[in-house]
Amino acid sequence: MERLNERVQAIEVIIHKYMPKAEGYAATVMEAMNYTMNAGGKRLRPMLMQETFYMFGGTGETIEPFMAAIEMIHTYSLVHDDLPALDNDDYRRGRKTAHIVYGEAMAILAGDALLNYAYETAAKAFSMTTEVQPVVRAFTILTQKPGIYGMIGGQTADVELTGTPLSEDALEYIYENKTGALIEASMMIGACLAGASLDAVKEIEKLAGIVGRAFQIQDDILDIEGNEEELGKPLHSDEENGKVTYVTIHGITDAKAEVEHLSQQAVKILDGFPQENPFLRELILSLVHRRK
Ligand code: IPE
Ligand code: IPE
Ligand code: MG
Ligand code: MG
Ligand code: MG
Repeated sequence: MERLNERVQAIEVIIHKYMPKAEGYAATVMEAMNYTMNAGGKRLRPMLMQETFYMFGGTGETIEPFMAAIEMIHTYSLVHDDLPALDNDDYRRGRKTAHIVYGEAMAILAGDALLNYAYETAAKAFSMTTEVQPVVRAFTILTQKPGIYGMIGGQTADVELTGTPLSEDALEYIYENKTGALIEASMMIGACLAGASLDAVKEIEKLAGIVGRAFQIQDDILDIEGNEEELGKPLHSDEENGKVTYVTIHGITDAKAEVEHLSQQAVKILDGFPQENPFLRELILSLVHRRK
């Protein structure tokens, strides 16, 4: 996609600005935080946040601490997801996982630290503007979507139901939450900070939920037929863990069709807005064919 790399680099500059310098007695945990944050990754969530912000005509810098914060929360979810007690994976973003390099205790603490530091970081937006109402709305979303009614809820069901036959309903709950929630938060926060109406934010939540579902199904497909080097994480993690996924239930052909279908559905909602962002549109469509 045109200018994608440039945009990723610009996002990384923002993220790095808000990361702590490793120093003092807690230097190791800070180093472990930076280790996974700096390993790369697609930066999809801050990108979706920023592009939704632009779509609704957002200006100013309050978006920046929120972009860094959502990437910290996402990265914490990965560090913990890879732990031996969860998915037990050794590679992430093309590097050994945090618990392999720093040990389990430090990886648990680095995840905790990233989650907490995300809120310390986002709270900086309050003193960056005289118009605090949009920041209050954005901050509230940032407290809700990663939690028990969001990402952690999804991860809980994912872990607890592993190895059992999943109903379509349970699968939907898991995808909507473990993956959908942070994508919803990203786009909703972008809209809120740009001053979008409550109705518009609701519609964005729906759109983002669909993107999240498509994103997770594609993740499941890539776990089977991706390329480890491109992906930067191990293949067949789901199979090794006995996970039931959309692909194991419906087969790979139907899964691909579903990703395509959901993406079209998401773009249809996007096209229903009077505001436009062609890059965001292209970004959502490009996720269907992503290889990483
Ligand atoms: C991985 O997310 C976890 C899922 C929700 C599937 P990403 O595929 O966005 O991972 P990074 O950020 O690019 O490493
Ligand atoms: C992860 O789902 C969702 C998270 C909240 C981290 P997966 O377990 O499928 O993600 P990967 O494949 O390890 O990135
Ligand atoms: Mg997992
Ligand atoms: Mg995993
Ligand atoms: Mg996966």
